[in-house]
Amino acid sequence: MSQRRILVTSALPYANSPLHLGHMLEEIQTDIWCRFQRHRGNQCYYVCADDAHGTAIMLKAEEAGITAEEHIAKIQTLHERDFADFHISVDNYYSTHSEENREFSNSIYQSLLANGHITQKRITQAFDQEKGIFLADRFIKGTCPRCKTLDQYGDNCEVCGATYAPNDLIDAVSALSGSTPVQKESDHFFFDLPQFEQFLREWLASGRLQTEISNKLSEWVEEGLQAWDISRDAPYFGFEIPDQPGKYFYVWLDAPIGYMASFKNLLSNQQGADKELDADAVFDEFWRDGSDTELYHFIGKDIINFHGLFWPAMLKSAGYRLPTGVFAHGFVTVNGTKMSKSRGTFINAHSWTKHLPTEPLRYYYAAKLGSGVDDIDLNLEDFVARVNSDLVGKLVNIASRCSGFVHKLNGGSLGPTIWNQELWEKARVVGDRVAEHYENREFSRAVREIMTVADMVNEYIAAKEPWKLAKSDETRTEAIAVCSDGINLFRLLMIYLRPILPEMAEKCVAFLNDDLDWHSEPKPLFNHEISVFTPLMNRIEPKQVELMQEENRSTAGAPAAAPEAQATSKDTASDIIEFSDFAKIDLRVAKILEANHVEGADKLLQLTLDIGDKTINVFSGIKSHYQPEDLKGRLTVVVANLQPRKMKFGVSEGMVLCAGEGEQLWLLEVDSDAVPGMPIA
Ligand code: 2FM
Ligand code: ZN
Repeated sequence: MSQRRILVTSALPYANSPLHLGHMLEEIQTDIWCRFQRHRGNQCYYVCADDAHGTAIMLKAEEAGITAEEHIAKIQTLHERDFADFHISVDNYYSTHSEENREFSNSIYQSLLANGHITQKRITQAFDQEKGIFLADRFIKGTCPRCKTLDQYGDNCEVCGATYAPNDLIDAVSALSGSTPVQKESDHFFFDLPQFEQFLREWLASGRLQTEISNKLSEWVEEGLQAWDISRDAPYFGFEIPDQPGKYFYVWLDAPIGYMASFKNLLSNQQGADKELDADAVFDEFWRDGSDTELYHFIGKDIINFHGLFWPAMLKSAGYRLPTGVFAHGFVTVNGTKMSKSRGTFINAHSWTKHLPTEPLRYYYAAKLGSGVDDIDLNLEDFVARVNSDLVGKLVNIASRCSGFVHKLNGGSLGPTIWNQELWEKARVVGDRVAEHYENREFSRAVREIMTVADMVNEYIAAKEPWKLAKSDETRTEAIAVCSDGINLFRLLMIYLRPILPEMAEKCVAFLNDDLDWHSEPKPLFNHEISVFTPLMNRIEPKQVELMQEENRSTAGAPAAAPEAQATSKDTASDIIEFSDFAKIDLRVAKILEANHVEGADKLLQLTLDIGDKTINVFSGIKSHYQPEDLKGRLTVVVANLQPRKMKFGVSEGMVLCAGEGEQLWLLEVDSDAVPGMPIA
């Protein structure tokens, strides 16, 4: 089969904070796919970069008292370190704040302009007079006009889900200075997306996007495309628009162009080392319209509009090729819920590496990843059990059991044949299916197939009992044969798993004296010397996970890891819950800021609660026992992560806890020196 030429990208992380395990899902998914392509003999470039522009990054640098350039350089170093630690085989990690990106952004913009796809319009926006800056919606806060929750962002309410214009917020203030924003006019540039309606319909029907994504985007097209505002006013950290002093490209304009810039930079660097290479020509082969090379973008499902609508339309207008595929994935949840700092489940990538190896996480993610956009749950208890069982108990076990006998009985040489042809044949055939699953990003299916073979191999060894066969001269040959089969099959499994477990595969290259190549169908090794076995992977101890979580738990008043529940195998009654289930409940100290009667409600009082990081609205059935004025200022206990409930009178975002039976009822009380937001454990 001829070699495919492939360019792959993963979304460019913002240069404003460290990477977390959500980012790593995408990097790992992309990396496994790229490694698989190279493993099969294809040419596969993988480029990424930091997404370095925008107001948030500018403000972050300001806050730290450094220049934006210094700030992004610092963050880039951290991101590159994390990429390396998680074995992400990116060929170039660059920055959108680069000369290449400035040039591409300018030239693409000039094309859009020349093609009549840029329009200009005067718009009115909120402006912070104290800071002298226009305020994006997320820098305006106020009370939700629908549910009246305080402290909501300018575009949508996190509690009731209402979307609105910042102007609709009640008592809106600038999140930067606390001052009341004024309305101010300014000229903006727009990319005229409606002109691409027909093109986008065809693009969405081209099969290059996952069905659920093209369906979603088609709905948006049906609702009517809007021109996209691609400019921002100074002060802004980004590229100034050519001939438009004080106007900058919006970060999302130059972010995807950063894919091109990173690739161009890679080729220029390669050309520096290899004068034969013509960087411009190769770049052109990958980006020119009508190119037969392949281009894939791996992204999160939250940024499909940029990659599925704006980006292809920009490429089209500027005369470049379109992506061969855009692959969206879901989000990561930890222990079944959204990552949360207070629960220690908002996991920073670097802190993971301090306590745990990264390959098992690659394996765990792979074992759960399909080609769709479903969220992936990292259940930490299951993670420990699964990687210990699959990787150490099943996979490494084959090699560790067999290699000793190969050395002891046969001087480290594998036998001259495959003893169990039937098993070899089964394992070999699985390879074709595994390759297909990798290609289709059905990694969980690939893992399932591979582990089924691992089970069969373990069963074979257990049934043959080579340790018994090794004891007598008559059966020694059979012991060597069984263990040689074991090693050959282990090698096959490692060939299949190499994209997921690159570090372990590297160790196996040395152990097996073989390159673990998968360019063509693997053949067994006969009369082949193997090295002495050294441990390939250690078991993970639950303690490592606990320490990692402890480090990630927000320091603000959070307790140390609670002791594990003393569950025993007897505790199977349905009213026994696991400690991990209890830990899902975000119990906190709450201060009652306001308590009011609810018009038309017999039992309910409306409470406004300070729960530390925000203020929430709760309706509680305690009217018959408490007067609102007696409650104000009291500390109590609230369940802070209940799914908000829409009630007749508004949305209730939590539950205060009461003791009571029958007609009796007491609101739980906390000592007065506790602080709102403190976790209850
Ligand atoms: O959502 C994000 O994190 C963006 N920084 C992704 C940019 S991807 C690409 F377009 F650059
Ligand atoms: Zn609301």
